[in-house]
Amino acid sequence: MLLVENLSFSYGEVQALRNISLKVPTATIVSVMGRNGVGKTTLMKNIVGTLKSTNGSVYLDDQPIHNLMAHQRVSAGIGYVPQGRMIFPKLTVSENLQIGLAGSRNKIIPNQIFDLFPILKEMKGRMGGDLSGGQQQQLAIGRALVTDPKILILDEPTEGIQPNIIQQIGQVLLQLVEEKGLTVLIVEQYLDFVREFCQSFYIMNRGEIVANGITKDLNQQIIREYLSV
Ligand SMILES: Nc1ncnc2c1ncn2[C@@H]1O[C@H](COP(=O)(O)OP(=O)(O)OP(=O)(O)O)[C@@H](O)[C@H]1O
Ligand SMILES: [Mg+2]
Repeated sequence: MLLVENLSFSYGEVQALRNISLKVPTATIVSVMGRNGVGKTTLMKNIVGTLKSTNGSVYLDDQPIHNLMAHQRVSAGIGYVPQGRMIFPKLTVSENLQIGLAGSRNKIIPNQIFDLFPILKEMKGRMGGDLSGGQQQQLAIGRALVTDPKILILDEPTEGIQPNIIQQIGQVLLQLVEEKGLTVLIVEQYLDFVREFCQSFYIMNRGEIVANGITKDLNQQIIREYLSV
């Protein structure tokens, strides 16, 4: 289980996160939603450790990880798929996957990655930049899975991606949750995806959590107030 307690963060003078607390139970998929610029990515970066919070705690399976550096959090079991995918266009698919293994003792890409995403096997030798948006997203997810994380954190993985690939990505996440007990925290704006794949939700507004609950309770009033543009 991932537990975030009273996390606050500022970019200089600008406070981007205010007293955020959330819980992602083991082997569930939890969404974080909210309009543009409310702090979703800042929150994910504080959990994975690329940003260091001024205040608050992060626990993974009861172990505090908020004092660890980002690469140590990977060793502790965090996998991260950043917003915009951040794959390397001039490296091959294999090389991009290898990057996920940097710093880990194992240097072999697990076969499981190619079982989950057969397209990556087919395109092993191709440049990352030659892949479609959806294929790049699958590559970014594959790269985050090579270290066999306990929790996978994804920041808007469906952004700008075709519906059939969105479905495939959702199915892969479900399979990992059901078969391997993976825990998933996902920033997602696409309500259909949340309704189909996520058990519970948190909504952010101006750096704060303003609503949360089980996905079934995500009603029109909440959507109108905090999500629709
Ligand atoms: N490096 C930075 N320096 C200063 N301010 C920043 C920085 N990155 C983000 N911000 C500000 O912090 C706030 C939260 O940004 P963040 O990227 O976390 O939002 P978001 O919810 O992920 O938005 P989006 O839906 O557009 O991805 C915004 O007001 C943004 O302008
Ligand atoms: Mg963002």
